[in-house]
Amino acid sequence: MKDVLIFLRERIPPRKGARIAVTEEPTLKIAVLGDVHGNLEALRAVHARALALGVETFYHLGDLGGYAPFVNEVVAFIREHRIDGVQGNYDEAVAHDRAHCGCRYEDPVQEQMTQASFEWTKTHVTPETKEYLKGLPAERHFSAAGHKVSLFHASPRKNNLYWYEDRPEKFFTEMAGKTDADILVYGHTHKPYRKDLGGKVFVNAGSVGKPKDGDPRACLTILDIAGGAVAVDFVRVEYDVEKTAAAITASGLPAYFAERLRRGA
Ligand SMILES: [Fe+2]
Repeated sequence: MKDVLIFLRERIPPRKGARIAVTEEPTLKIAVLGDVHGNLEALRAVHARALALGVETFYHLGDLGGYAPFVNEVVAFIREHRIDGVQGNYDEAVAHDRAHCGCRYEDPVQEQMTQASFEWTKTHVTPETKEYLKGLPAERHFSAAGHKVSLFHASPRKNNLYWYEDRPEKFFTEMAGKTDADILVYGHTHKPYRKDLGGKVFVNAGSVGKPKDGDPRACLTILDIAGGAVAVDFVRVEYDVEKTAAAITASGLPAYFAERLRRGA
């Protein structure tokens, strides 16, 4: 642990105000849960599947609330199962009562709906949930089997930057230069991918609770790290989408999000 801390202090100047957590993992099969967004059913399903697949260590990538109503229940589940994670833009905005979630919109309808969801979430979070969201670090670093892994919600630069697969290579290289990890894991776009470039592995873990890649099944990302090899599996997990969709409508959140959930949009 001491070596890792020294390594980080020397090589990664922390962003102003950023909180950084560092650990070493004894296990090699690690589940990363991206963007749960208040979808407790999806979270339960991926957690159960991960355990069945032999995963012992879990991390989350933040954005635990919004779009579906179970932000408090999701946070309670994460805490009960001692799943460490990082703070998403949505978590930060809810925790600090910001006027805006820091999300990007594709059209005016989406803007209106997203804002309604954000206001709903701010109104319904408990003080305990808010405290938890407020205390999440901006980034996490751990080592496992000789690999160094960095976790961010969206990118090492900002927590609301959309890091899609088709970004130019120089963007990947620039982001890689902000950490000495050889595996970088992040989410925020809700579209999973793996890209290998310059000896680094870039993993967008997709979204557990609100996939946007046209596949409504929850996305469970598993890193299997053994010696030199790094395997990344995007396991798509069936869950009761209709149960979450019904809860969205019943809660007073826009039915728009129930419809998007069914389409994986
Ligand atoms: Fe996000």
